[in-house]
Amino acid sequence: GPSLDVLAGLSGRRFGSAIGGGHGGPLTRSFDDPAYRAIMAAECGVMTPENELKWSVLRRGGAGSFDFAPADRLLAFAEANGMAFRGHTLLWHHPQYTPEWVAKHDYGSKPASEAARLIEEHVTTVCSHYGRRILSYDVVNEAIDPETGDYRTTPLTQHLSPQEAVDLAFRAARAAAPEAELVYNDFMSWEPGSPRHVPAVLELLEGFRKRGVPVDAMGIQGHIGDPGGAKSAPFAARDERAWRRFLDAVTAMGYKLHITELDVSDKKLPAPTAERDAQVADYARAYLDCMLSYPQLGDIVLWGITDQYNWLNGLTPRSDGLPKRPTPYDDQFRAKPLRAAIADAL
Ligand code: XIL
Repeated sequence: GPSLDVLAGLSGRRFGSAIGGGHGGPLTRSFDDPAYRAIMAAECGVMTPENELKWSVLRRGGAGSFDFAPADRLLAFAEANGMAFRGHTLLWHHPQYTPEWVAKHDYGSKPASEAARLIEEHVTTVCSHYGRRILSYDVVNEAIDPETGDYRTTPLTQHLSPQEAVDLAFRAARAAAPEAELVYNDFMSWEPGSPRHVPAVLELLEGFRKRGVPVDAMGIQGHIGDPGGAKSAPFAARDERAWRRFLDAVTAMGYKLHITELDVSDKKLPAPTAERDAQVADYARAYLDCMLSYPQLGDIVLWGITDQYNWLNGLTPRSDGLPKRPTPYDDQFRAKPLRAAIADAL
């Protein structure tokens, strides 16, 4: 039958997945497996490097050093197989994925300008290196603290305000990659414990418009499923009206939408495989039907295409210790009900 990317293409969309090269520590190594690469090539029109464009890999050599080799290896594979490549991500607060030198760096007597220089240098160097080979960037990832709704702080924003840092990243990206689509990417928690997240992201998006910051799209990560697996966006019928109000507000401001990191946490679903897979598929189907009802939705990108290599297994395990099954292909690379659910939704 037709690939998921061909099906997505029927409505002018693209389908894809993340892939990991395993660089910089205990990171996903799906790229090393030829079976994984074959499924990517067969199903996908777009590919996201799971970690290789983060500061933790690209900037691990220290200030002034850029190691493009890990990401370039993935990009060569994408290009050889006719896949677009997404730039994930130019600015992310996460301390674990920011090299230590950033905090220890000598910011000198004008620390704000030095922080700004580092951000601008990073964005400009990456965008210039790739030129038209990357036409969509998650410029800023997860800028908002979901509990407080405030901007998150990072070593770079000790000196420069977080708003200035975020705005600067987008402005520098527009200048260095004028043809690229610029995305603000966030997981959008959908749990009662984070009531500030949604309004704060809407304020952020409004602020971009008021200040003329060049942002084209909102990337919805789409780590859906039962709460607690990741800081996820649980989606159920009872949430749909509130979720639509959020999407309506985002699109009313003129932003396009992408699903950038879809997976379905089955952390708390029943153990029997058939039942678990069926619930995962139903959950994703309801979510995708809602998302696909927005003509503004472009890409549908998974955060991993087989259960064999999946970041969720590195987070809190299921209480029964069974491996999680959050993707459309199982650990033997056989299509699961989730694959059929995505195909049907498309
Ligand atoms: C994750 C990777 O999948 C892991 O391999 C890594 O250890 C941590 O980062 N939201 C994001 C992604 O924007 O960059 C994260 O990727 C998953 C959550």
